[in-house]
Amino acid sequence: MKKTANLLAVLCALALPPALAGTAVPIPHLVQKDGRHALIVDGQPYTMLGAQAHNSSNYPGALDKVWAAVKDAHANTLEIPVAWEQFEPAEGKFDFSYVDTLLAQARQHKVRLVLLWFGTWKNTGPQYAPEWVRFNNERFPRMIGKDGKNSYCLSPLGEQTLKADTRAFTALMAHLKKIDEAHRTVIMVQVENEVGTYGTVRDFGPAGEAAFRQPVPTAVLARKKAPPSVAGAPSGSWSEVYGPYADEYFHAWAVASYIEQIAKAGRAVYDLPMFVNNALRDPLEPMAPWKGNFASGGPTYDVIDIYKAAAPHIDVAGPDLYMPESAKLGATLALFQRPDNALFVPEMGNAPGYARYIYQILGRGAIGVAPFGIDYAEYSNYPLGSKASDKTMVEPFGRVFAAFRPMAQLWARWSLEGRTHGIAESDERTPQSVALKDWKVTASFRQWQFGNVVDVKGDGKADQQDYPAGTESPNGGAALAQTGDNEFIVVGQRVRLAFEGSGANAGKPSMYARVEEGRFDAAGKWVMERNWNGDQTDWGINLPATPTVLKIRMRTH
Ligand code: DGJ
Repeated sequence: MKKTANLLAVLCALALPPALAGTAVPIPHLVQKDGRHALIVDGQPYTMLGAQAHNSSNYPGALDKVWAAVKDAHANTLEIPVAWEQFEPAEGKFDFSYVDTLLAQARQHKVRLVLLWFGTWKNTGPQYAPEWVRFNNERFPRMIGKDGKNSYCLSPLGEQTLKADTRAFTALMAHLKKIDEAHRTVIMVQVENEVGTYGTVRDFGPAGEAAFRQPVPTAVLARKKAPPSVAGAPSGSWSEVYGPYADEYFHAWAVASYIEQIAKAGRAVYDLPMFVNNALRDPLEPMAPWKGNFASGGPTYDVIDIYKAAAPHIDVAGPDLYMPESAKLGATLALFQRPDNALFVPEMGNAPGYARYIYQILGRGAIGVAPFGIDYAEYSNYPLGSKASDKTMVEPFGRVFAAFRPMAQLWARWSLEGRTHGIAESDERTPQSVALKDWKVTASFRQWQFGNVVDVKGDGKADQQDYPAGTESPNGGAALAQTGDNEFIVVGQRVRLAFEGSGANAGKPSMYARVEEGRFDAAGKWVMERNWNGDQTDWGINLPATPTVLKIRMRTH
């Protein structure tokens, strides 16, 4: 009890920056403790159960179909674009009407917002920049490829472009401060969207060539070492230091520096947490210089250090998860979760197979996760996401979020304390174990709740014909929080969990003292609905298809 009270005191101290102590609603911000992170909203750790709307739903007339899906998703946060083209349709004339409507409706729906600034770059292209920017190449230059031809992508070295984008973004932040400081409806802002460039590794125009010949800035040198295969100089030009990686690293620095100027100016006006999102490079491919296989200059895992050096006003680089393979997805999470980079998944595919990854992501201690395209706009981005665009698309995510929602704040607190773990069924569907303090938990999949999968042939292997219905493709997962030495909060679906002693409990026989099914109430108090015993625990903890929350107490004897 005392330990909890101390921790609460630490958290409260973390939650209130001195400048804001005393104001009614503290500003959202990130905290870090022993390399773990939490997003603080209303002075408390916050788990973002997010939903991202489709790209073109950023108009008042489109919002009804967004709110309906957000409600079905049991999301507590909506991520939605604010496009430069709608915000500044004519140069210097800002239109606040959509932002005003959006915030007012979000408050009515009791949903927080993450605004996505679609400015100079959206999926690397300029399509959300206003027309007066997009078609004036002279004032707002595009990158130039090695062949001397204009790229589609606006150059990060375009001074006028940076000035114009910064002015618009700053106007947005000033307006948010004015209308939302007392509410904090908006809790984070994404600066640009999936930046980087396809087709050319960097800008080879005169400005690009001149900048490329400059020495690598010391802030970059301090953070980013050359890959082991490169015998680079300790300092000097990009080529001298980084060899064949120089072009990509230089472009990452140029893009990150551009974003930094925008974020810094915006935060000087209204200091909300800010992040960038990444269209991934393959995390399992051996490291090699760019060969056209991803957007060069984007915040891919290999250049996070460059982003940290160039863009200190960006809190997080987050992976957009559209690689459905469990091995790639897990590797990506590991690469983006760092002591200097909170794990935050701003986008994830909305195909049903992604829902199980919520357990893994939140179990790892992410500050939030948002499936993309949670919106009844009758648009499906299959094959990237779901074929469906109706309730059946939202449902797999809504069920998981509904289980987490009542304990979202507790979960964020436990994550910050390092108590949480997560498992998603792998594509191979093999058992997985997690090591907790003095306990080991093994998860297995496709098990019946009473007995083991039948071995009719007697060859020691499961009978392929006799798996439970609904397990045709991987969809199991569990997240666990160790809330005491022998106490665990478990949330999961379609998984069998087996507990055994380890560490101080190694080799000791143990059994369940209690396996309570229930939920947390609004005050964070556990409400038991029933205690699992007999058949319900004889074959392990078999979580059903419906995401279920259990409070388990183990004892040795
Ligand atoms: C990732 C982008 O960031 C989103 O805006 C969207 O275009 C998806 N890809 C694809 O639906």
